[in-house]
Amino acid sequence: MNLKDRDFLTLKDYTADEIMYLIDLAAKLKDMKKKGIVDQPLLGKNVALIFEKTSTRTRCSFEIAAHDLGMGTTYLDPKGSQIGKKESIADTARVLGSMFDGIEYRGFGQEIVNDLAKYSKVPVWNGLTNEYHPTQMLADMLTVREKLGRLKGVKFVYMGDARYNMGNSLMIVCAKLGLHYTACTSKKYFPNAELVAQCEEWARQSGGSVTLCEDAMEATKDADVLYTDVWVSMGEPDEVWEERINDLTPYQVNMKVLKNASDNVIFMHCLPAFHDLKTSTGKLIHDKFGLDEMEVTDEVFESEHSVVFDEAENRMHTIKAVMAATLGAYQD
Ligand code: CP
Ligand code: NVA
Repeated sequence: MNLKDRDFLTLKDYTADEIMYLIDLAAKLKDMKKKGIVDQPLLGKNVALIFEKTSTRTRCSFEIAAHDLGMGTTYLDPKGSQIGKKESIADTARVLGSMFDGIEYRGFGQEIVNDLAKYSKVPVWNGLTNEYHPTQMLADMLTVREKLGRLKGVKFVYMGDARYNMGNSLMIVCAKLGLHYTACTSKKYFPNAELVAQCEEWARQSGGSVTLCEDAMEATKDADVLYTDVWVSMGEPDEVWEERINDLTPYQVNMKVLKNASDNVIFMHCLPAFHDLKTSTGKLIHDKFGLDEMEVTDEVFESEHSVVFDEAENRMHTIKAVMAATLGAYQD
């Protein structure tokens, strides 16, 4: 397996074998980290981390992983660079590509990260766009495998806005790796028909399946994984909150659907999550709409079924694997 010099923009571009290779490499790097083994195969290299949207997990994962591999990092925050305002993406790509060995981008449209990759000669990694969140997928699949011992045949149910970055990406990775994926939401939030058709084709090859279902009890029956995400994503206007609350409340992950699922069901969430009133946004929504919790109840979030913090930790090990593989470290 040789992924050197590849961009990591969406898992649509990666085969099942390549995805499994990255998950296996992440598991190996996690084991090394737990044993305290220090190895710096990319010593002397540097990476640029562009964040046009905010982040806790993704930024920290890229920084720690880069340092563990021996690399330096430069963080460009949502306001602190010329990107987009005074300098085009094509020019930025050529400038950063001449200084750095790799570039991470988190921001808006997928076309922006695609352009960065097109105009720079170094690997570009997608740290989340409106359409896809591919590094999150590796962490999620590593977590499912650690907790359930398998990927193929797992009944994976995603509840909420199934047509944005998380819903799209989970459908793709599940279809490629042979899981049974269900988007459980109202029709308005079903993923794009063209992407569904493409995923159905991948699922036919992998032994998985793709289902779209509006009935929460039917969809969650015997589920192995219940997954959700925020109802309003970064960059979306505040005006959509009311409509989302009305549309997506029937798809909240609560004890009723958890009890309807398999006895060993795991609850997953990419985080951050609105499960209590300990955030300023959570308080604002409470004051305006009277909700104490949104996409997941605090009871489920804090239950023994919840694996969200192991999932968050795995972001670091999997992002390390992506950088290592695309920069040519740990090649077989
Ligand atoms: N899950 C995720 O991408 O988290 P951050 O927004 O904190 O990076
Ligand atoms: N759908 C969310 C994912 C956050 C990791 C967002 O884009 O804000």
